[in-house]
Amino acid sequence: MSNLTQEINRRRTFAIISHPDAGKTTLTEKFLLYGGAINLAGSVKGKATARHAVSDWMEIEKERGISVTSSVLQFEYDGYCINILDTPGHQDFSEDTYRTLMAADSAVMVIDGSKGVEAQTRKLFKVCVMRKIPIFTFINKMDRDANDTFDLLDEIEKELGIATCPKNWPIGSGKGFKGIFDRDKRCVIIYSDTEKGTREGEAMEIPLEEEDRLRDCIGQEAMDKLLEEIELLDGASAEFDLKEVQKGELTPVFFGSALTNFGVEIFLKHFLEMTTTPLPRKADTGLIDPVENNFSAFVFKIQANMNKAHRDRIAFMRICSGKFEASMEVKHVQGGKIMRLSQPQQIMASERKILEEAYAGDIIGVFDPGIFSIGDTLCMPKESFAYEGIPTFAPEHFARVRQVDTMKRKQFVKGINQIAQEGAIQIFQEYNTGMEEIIVGVVGVLQFDVLKYRLNNEYNVEIRLEPLPYEYIRWIENKDEIDLDKLTGTSDMKKVKDMRGNPLLLFVNEWSVGMTLDRNKGLILTEFGRN
Ligand code: G4P
Repeated sequence: MSNLTQEINRRRTFAIISHPDAGKTTLTEKFLLYGGAINLAGSVKGKATARHAVSDWMEIEKERGISVTSSVLQFEYDGYCINILDTPGHQDFSEDTYRTLMAADSAVMVIDGSKGVEAQTRKLFKVCVMRKIPIFTFINKMDRDANDTFDLLDEIEKELGIATCPKNWPIGSGKGFKGIFDRDKRCVIIYSDTEKGTREGEAMEIPLEEEDRLRDCIGQEAMDKLLEEIELLDGASAEFDLKEVQKGELTPVFFGSALTNFGVEIFLKHFLEMTTTPLPRKADTGLIDPVENNFSAFVFKIQANMNKAHRDRIAFMRICSGKFEASMEVKHVQGGKIMRLSQPQQIMASERKILEEAYAGDIIGVFDPGIFSIGDTLCMPKESFAYEGIPTFAPEHFARVRQVDTMKRKQFVKGINQIAQEGAIQIFQEYNTGMEEIIVGVVGVLQFDVLKYRLNNEYNVEIRLEPLPYEYIRWIENKDEIDLDKLTGTSDMKKVKDMRGNPLLLFVNEWSVGMTLDRNKGLILTEFGRN
């Protein structure tokens, strides 16, 4: 096997998704700990250190002590080179979170065992399903009282519409948490709290047949319950089928406690075995194989003003095939230019490390003098193809933008357009009226503050935002067949157009969407736009 093939095949690139507080950060820290990337858990980006970790990033991050942007963590473990795409862990996440998932090959879903499936998980999960990427579930906080295990699995199946296959099974929870039963090895791993340790402690494993020993360890009651549950489980649960996992139709489920460092390394090991090497990606010329093809990448995120002093923009790209070398020339397909990528770097939290080389599966950030757009393709100078665009995700909050000082129209239009180009917000105009009114749509309301702040800070323009009641947006898929003037909906429906002139409809509730579809035969609406 060539060195290139080896390097690519040992890469695993995944995103961690969860509702805030389910334990994503804690789990990530434990992963990094095993990889030796950090010395002591808690030092990467704990909430307490978040304020310092963002040093020269947007002021707003510092002010609020949160991470507005997603970052990438790379570390080595057991011969694997792992890229974790982190997604913001607060309520007001943005479209970036969704786009980050476009750069991942699989996702780890962290669920709080006492809460079950929560709102944020549901949203992110939808995107994973759309992309059909494998999803691995880690049910966390078993050291606290958790919901009934069968109920938790049922909830995942019903709420998220994916089959579950528990790879291990918890024995009790909270104060009565005794450990997990490994279904493949048919043994019990006894709970130990090694929060302060650098690795999981020497886990005590007791085979199920050693009944007396097991009974001594976990007690008669837990033992009876376990045997009963195993019997139920073996009879009822889906057969494990890796192909179904890889199609995103079955999620392997693991239990543990990230905080006390139990079940995490077991999860990581199984996960790395089951998850995929960098996947081929669809381009307009067909599938691009990561190993067979030369260097190519696509831009999935643009971050402006990471360093205010330099007014720089960083374009994040996912390498989809081949090897990248800092000195090589590449083609920016959409811009039609051959160039060298400037200051290629690996971005870890707010630290940046200049890179000499990177491989398919890796994420790099490059200095962007304002030429890249989300979804752009880079490839070798002699080649030419474009990766499928990244969908535009449906904003859920809308506001009318009013300029406080109308004399500054030019700066305002420039500023708002640039920010929209980066994909931080989406802007719309009234359908069939002049340019004047601008409606802004965002996935998370924090983006409204980001917009206000940035217009003021970078373009010296003050705005007022008037919230609008719309929550649902639909693109018209068959726009060429539909006469928009004649389209009738409910009285609270609004017709607008996006930056490219595509017609869209805004609705206050889902019922209105349904009514409009009923009233206009042949109308096809979609939740995702295309770049
Ligand atoms: P997030 O990134 O998904 O938002 O969650 P994070 O890891 O920050 O965890 C949220 C809270 O839950 C933290 O407590 C964390 O210590 C706790 N936690 C994470 N995993 C476990 C677990 O397995 N068991 C228990 N009992 N708690 C867990 P916090 O008090 O909110 O924050 P902090 O002060 O500890 O940073």
